[in-house]
Amino acid sequence: MLSKKLEKALNNQICIEAESSQVYLSMASWAEIKGLEGIAGFMYMHSDEERQHMLKLVKYVNERGGHALISELKAPKTDFGNFQSMFQELYDHEIFVSKSINELVHVTLEEKDYATHNFLQWYVAEQIEEEALARTILDKINLIGNDKGGLYLFDRDVMQITADSAATDPNV
Ligand code: FEO
Repeated sequence: MLSKKLEKALNNQICIEAESSQVYLSMASWAEIKGLEGIAGFMYMHSDEERQHMLKLVKYVNERGGHALISELKAPKTDFGNFQSMFQELYDHEIFVSKSINELVHVTLEEKDYATHNFLQWYVAEQIEEEALARTILDKINLIGNDKGGLYLFDRDVMQITADSAATDPNV
């Protein structure tokens, strides 16, 4: 049985994952209307992943005798300016999510809930991967600068990253 404190913290994370899914969905839609097909595909996939992260938490909370609460979500912004700053926002957002997961892990230790501690290790590992991927993409962006041909190739590259992770990630 989850403690009330941990149940509340897990429900907060459910909200964060759901909002993350909305943020990336909004990025996907923005990229799509700008003709950035590869980037849009990447963001659609990322949005789906966040929904899976959210669902996994919902199932876990209910399985442990809690009540997963589906709450109202903050509306994401709809205009991201340019693709460079959009990916910077994605990176910053993942850093925020990692901090939140770390705080959640801290609560499991305070509450001596080792089952939940164990369950959350999947999220800890996932955040390392997501941050690394976002950093790799930002490095590529720095390399291409404002070169239009570079942007075309970058968009193709991101499309490939999406295809690769769809092929290897069982959680997509
Ligand atoms: Fe579920 Fe990208 O954090």
